[in-house]
Order: sequence, then C-alpha cells, then structure tokens
Amino acid sequence: MKQTIRGTKDIFSPEIDLWVYLEHVARTTFTQFNYKEIRTPLLEYTEVFQRAIGESTDVVGKKMYTFNDRGDTSITLRPEFTAGVIRSAIQHDFLNKHLQKLFYFGPIFRYERPQKGRQRQFNQVGVECIGYDSVKSDVEIIVMSDLFLKNIGITTHIFKINTLGSKESRKRFTVELNSFLESKKSELSEDSQRRLTTNPLRILDSKSPQDRLVLSDAPLLSSFLSAEEVSRFESIKETLKLLSIPFEESNHLVRGLDYYSHFVFEITGTKLGSQDSLGGGGRYNNMFEEFGAKPTPCIGVSFGMERLILELEGQSNLLSKPTSVYILVAKQEYYSLALKLQSELISATLCCVYFDLAEKSFKNQMKEANNSEADFVLIIGEDEVANSTISVKNMKTSEQIVVKMEELANYFSKLS
Ligand code: HAM
Repeated sequence: MKQTIRGTKDIFSPEIDLWVYLEHVARTTFTQFNYKEIRTPLLEYTEVFQRAIGESTDVVGKKMYTFNDRGDTSITLRPEFTAGVIRSAIQHDFLNKHLQKLFYFGPIFRYERPQKGRQRQFNQVGVECIGYDSVKSDVEIIVMSDLFLKNIGITTHIFKINTLGSKESRKRFTVELNSFLESKKSELSEDSQRRLTTNPLRILDSKSPQDRLVLSDAPLLSSFLSAEEVSRFESIKETLKLLSIPFEESNHLVRGLDYYSHFVFEITGTKLGSQDSLGGGGRYNNMFEEFGAKPTPCIGVSFGMERLILELEGQSNLLSKPTSVYILVAKQEYYSLALKLQSELISATLCCVYFDLAEKSFKNQMKEANNSEADFVLIIGEDEVANSTISVKNMKTSEQIVVKMEELANYFSKLS
C-alpha cells in the first residue's frame, strides 16, 4: 500500500487537538485586533506568484508545485498566502469595502528537502494589513504576533528585525555589494556563487561559515539608507523597547521573498534546531503595483503551524477536554434508551456522550469505557429501567450515585 507523499503528513488525534486549539486562539486573537478572516483558493494562476514573489527567489525558481491543467493553463498550488490575498484585495476592491485587516490559515506547498520542521505541504497562519504606511501599523503587527504566541503558550521567542529601506536605497546598496562579492567570488560557497547572478541580497543571510567570513567585511545596507528611512526604523525600535517586546537587530536579515522593503522581521523559537523560524514577515509596499493596481502600502506576517506545534510539544495541559460520558447497557434491548439519553445530553450539555457500537458484553463495555478514559459511566440496568433512574459512576473517584432520568441533563449541564 502507498504511504503519504514525502514531506506531507496525516494529522489525527491526539495531535489534532493542538491544531484546533491553535486555530481557535489565532481566530480569537486576530479578531480582537479587528482582523477579518479570508479564505483564498489553493490554486492560483502561476503568474500571481511569479509577479508578486519574484522570479529570482528560490520559492518561485525551485519550490513551486506548478502544472498545466487540462485546459493547458499554468496553475500553481499556493506557496504562500500573501500574493493570493493581495490578488483578492485588488479583484474585490477591499480598500473601498474597508476590508484592510485580514487573517487566514491553511495549507501551503513548497518542494523542499523535508526534515524536522520542514515539509512540502505545511500550514501557515497569518495576517495581512493593507493600505497603511505608518510605523503604528509596523508595530501593531509585532505586538499582535507577540500576543498571539503568548496566548498559545510560547514565551521564549525572539524577534529578529531589520530594515531593507526603499527600492532605490537597496538598488544603490546592491551595486556596492555586488562589486564586493564579485571580488571575493572564489571564497564564497557554491550556492552563493550561483546567487551572485540571480539574487545577491540573499547571500547576506547565508548560514555557511565560509560565506559568513566573507560577509564580515561586506558593505552594510544601513549605510545606504536615507535619513528618513533610518529614523523610521529607530522609531519602531524605540516603541518596541517601550512595550518591552524582546528583539534583536539583525542587519543581515533579508528574507527569502523579493517583495519586501523597509521593515522586515523573523521570529525564532528555541526547540526547532536548524529550522528555527516560527514566523516571518514585513512591509511590502510594491505588490499592488506589480499587479498593475494603484500603489498601496502593506505589511503582514505568517507563522508555520507545524513549527508552532513542535514548539508547544508536550504541553497537553493547554487543552481543555469536554467531560466524557460512556453509557453502559445491561441488555442490548436498552440501546434505544441509550440513544435517547445521548441525544438529550448532547443537546443540553457540552459533554461528549457515547456507547458501544458493537454488541459487547457488559464487562467488555466497562473495559471500553476504561480504555477511552471516560470521566463518567452511566449504567442502564434492570433496576434503573424499572425505576426510571440512571446509576452515574464517577470514574476518577469511583463514587456511584443514582439520578432520576429526567434530572440527568441538569446534573451534567452543571458539570460541563
Ligand atoms: P516565509 O518566511 O516564507 O514567509 O514563511 C513563513 C513561515 O512559514 C516560516 O517562518 C516557517 O515557520 C513556515 N515555513 C516556511 N516553509 C516551511 C516548510 N517547508 N515547512 C514548514 N514550515 C515552513 C511567508 O510565507 C510570507 N508570506 C510571510 C508574510 C506575510 N510576509 C508578509 N505577509
């Protein structure tokens, strides 16, 4: 039998509980910042990503799942959310609908070399904030990211921040960087030598020790920024300090997607090994124009949900489970009564209510109740049927009481 495709995985109980929890906290937190949910298609025209992300990036150049559909149109499984959200914002004129703050979660596809924390199908949760250029909007994204992580139970993360300045400043810097790196070409790693012609800025955040050595003497982007760009970044840092949000300035951080300018950041965790980036984002003020629309400033962030789950590993205390109730019958003919009780309890309480769906003996039903870690067992026996009562056994304390059948829903609604 075939197994799952390399780099993809099935998610099921008990891990699925963490996913539901994560989605719930994300939805609550982002809604509290007045963000509205958006769901865009998994499939987009390939051109959407080529235009928005940039041909020279690894994501577009090497990692996209692109195919021609039966109508011979080039289609791509989304390798990130941002481009699709902006395509949607332009198509539906979100700015005029006052839909400027959007959040999302769902699957993403990138053809990568799989390892811990790196898959070919993974999930992102994130936000895009459209139409604001203020430092306030930069800082709000960080504040919201910080709170989201704290709300899910992560407290040891750190923000690595940088500014890439405007397109013009970056262009001037790239000329200098290129001539510096060309002069050191033979000392660079093979990967960086290739990038020299495709995307030299990316060499800046290479992890290869060989490259790091060369880069220690490289010109700095910060020396090419205008006074206004520098003061903008200073203002962000000052506000973050004021809010006691831990950050590190990282002047080699450039991000792997081409659309960024000005403020960029990554959020690193502590348990992920080499794939330590929990999330990342930044300002991208040119994407509307790339799509032929009116220039509109934007900023956003996305988190890798698998990585958040890895970071939370072992924290099952975060999850609240409903009270579980197993209905046990002494005779098979009492099942109609069990079904009736199940419906009554489910409509009146938040309990999880279930019984044996095979035809197990009384003893084996008890075994099943134990194996499924039921909190309570309801016993429908001959005496109970004769007296319209139910015996309720608390499986933690082993205490057993008798409750009138018509009072059962009330009894459990107080518990759940
Ligand atoms: P990104 O840095 O490419 O940014 O991805 C964001 C996060 O997705 C990463 O920090 C990581 O946690 C997770 N991630 C990336 N690749 C994988 C993978 N192969 N397996 C598991 N997790 C992965 C973006 O996607 C931008 N769209 C973020 C953004 C939003 N910028 C502005 N708005």
